[in-house]
Amino acid sequence: MNANTVKEECSSDQKLVLVFFGSPHKNGTSAKLLDAFLAPFYGNAEVRIIHSYEQKIAPCLGCNVCAAEQTCSQRDFDGLDLLIRRADAIVVATPVYNLGFPAPLKAIIDRTQRYYAARFFLGVQKPIEKHKTAALLVTCGSSEPEDAALLYRQLERVFSVMNTKLKGMTVWADTDADDGHSTFEKARKAARDLALAILCEM
Ligand SMILES: Cc1cc2nc3c(=O)[nH]c(=O)nc-3n(C[C@H](O)[C@H](O)[C@H](O)COP(=O)(O)O)c2cc1C
Repeated sequence: MNANTVKEECSSDQKLVLVFFGSPHKNGTSAKLLDAFLAPFYGNAEVRIIHSYEQKIAPCLGCNVCAAEQTCSQRDFDGLDLLIRRADAIVVATPVYNLGFPAPLKAIIDRTQRYYAARFFLGVQKPIEKHKTAALLVTCGSSEPEDAALLYRQLERVFSVMNTKLKGMTVWADTDADDGHSTFEKARKAARDLALAILCEM
């Protein structure tokens, strides 16, 4: 990237949709659901996809440095911190792994502890200045809706200190049951509706 590109990027007032992608599979069910969701954004916003399995963000160390000042003892999250601050919308697209997030995505989520600490240990009213709307896209092998609901609860709590309103969730369930075609169509439409609702708020 040359200097002009960086400058253009930094001064860009184009809306930013930041996606945290939790699946190790770039062409799996989560990717298919994300594609359906993102379709209305292309041409209307800048879309950045963070592939958590490639990003390899280290787990939170629980060192409590962020409880003493607004920073983190590890530097590998700094780029994501800047993107989070700039984003207008945040999307988390992921499969359910053992009733939770896949480990690399969970590491990213835990690293947002710095915003929680800023809010509750340092008394910062808005650890993230810019308001955002967010969406959760979940795929799960089982047909149990509570598997996805557990992810929703976790994210809602994390976003509560990030000036981020979790607008809704689209679940593609039962992906292990068949080839996925029969269950995908409903999820595709729901993802599109959620995307349009978020686009309207940006
Ligand atoms: C390690 C692992 C744990 C899983 N745990 C769950 C689970 O708790 N509940 C569930 O419904 N599906 C579970 N699944 C199934 C995946 O969520 C499902 O196959 C999903 O569609 C995979 O998404 P992908 O195609 O993007 O990889 C698990 C899969 C793996 C590999």
